[in-house]
Amino acid sequence: VIDLRSDTVTTPTPEMRRAMAAAEVGDDVYGEDPTVRRLEEMAADLLGFEAALFVPSGTMGNQLAVLTHTRPGDEVLVEAEAHIYYYEQGGIARLAGAQPRPVATPDGHLTPSLLDAALRGPDLHFPRPSLLCVENTHNRAGGEVLGVDECQGLAAWAHAHGLRCHLDGARIFNAAIALAVPARALAQPFDSVMFCLSKGLGAPVGSLLVGARDFIAEARRGRKVLGGGMRQAGVLAAAGIVALSTMVNRLEEDHRNAALLADRLAEVPGLVVEPMRLRTNMVMVQTDRPAAEVVLRLREAGVLVNAVGPRRIRLVTHKDVSRDDCLAAVRRFAEALAA
Ligand SMILES: Cc1ncc(COP(=O)(O)O)c(C=O)c1O
Repeated sequence: VIDLRSDTVTTPTPEMRRAMAAAEVGDDVYGEDPTVRRLEEMAADLLGFEAALFVPSGTMGNQLAVLTHTRPGDEVLVEAEAHIYYYEQGGIARLAGAQPRPVATPDGHLTPSLLDAALRGPDLHFPRPSLLCVENTHNRAGGEVLGVDECQGLAAWAHAHGLRCHLDGARIFNAAIALAVPARALAQPFDSVMFCLSKGLGAPVGSLLVGARDFIAEARRGRKVLGGGMRQAGVLAAAGIVALSTMVNRLEEDHRNAALLADRLAEVPGLVVEPMRLRTNMVMVQTDRPAAEVVLRLREAGVLVNAVGPRRIRLVTHKDVSRDDCLAAVRRFAEALAA
């Protein structure tokens, strides 16, 4: 079976498993797990922030950011297809009691002029806008990359209007590799950044939220009330340390495989591959028949993909699919559609 549903399906490397088995641990709710502390320091240093918090998932990291940056009744500006709004069960409203204001874009790229149009003045009737959320790479836009200037421009816009700015950088290292810039350059404009260890980097569990010391101290309180206070979490953090040390540069291979998939799938009748400014590890294809039907046929042929719209399918490359797997997937795609 060739699993192209997501980079979340990646399994830990042998080195990660060894590090997990050998990890020094303590009670992290008491701040006594040395391996978690080491991972948090590493994450903060890597992205150039004062502090970091290890959380079980990207969703918790994002939602904690919203919870910590806002007060109930505030408004959160967010791109309309962003994960934090589209895929997190209305957490902005449900957990933080804030109101999301989705801003539609054709391609995942928010712009200051789109944000100007969405921002309302200080009228008594309106909620207070207090947070802008940005996503890089942008999942539903097909792994679209936001550049350093763009990130700086969006954060500058937020700050000029009195808003904080959070980055959902679940795949920030994919963006950094695609742009050939340090991830820190993409992270620095923001007040907080969440990134995931358990996607392309291959760790089994975990994400980091980074920010200023006070912000992280408050987020740590929020993590506890959400049930995310973990005890001997060093066994998980150990895999995260290996992920950050050894798995970032190889993301380039996933990007090459995605480009290969995109090129070859473009030749398959009945499919249109969505063009990208800069390809990372995702390929979005439009299908001429219902996506659910195509997904089922492919499953029978041993290829797993996800439908992300009525006639839209997403394929994600990662460390557990090779170039040959990608070529085999294209062949099976063509056969399944021809049948
Ligand atoms: C852009 C983005 N943000 C956040 C998340 C949430 O991560 P998790 O599944 O660890 O909650 C995902 C997961 O796919 C994602 O793609």
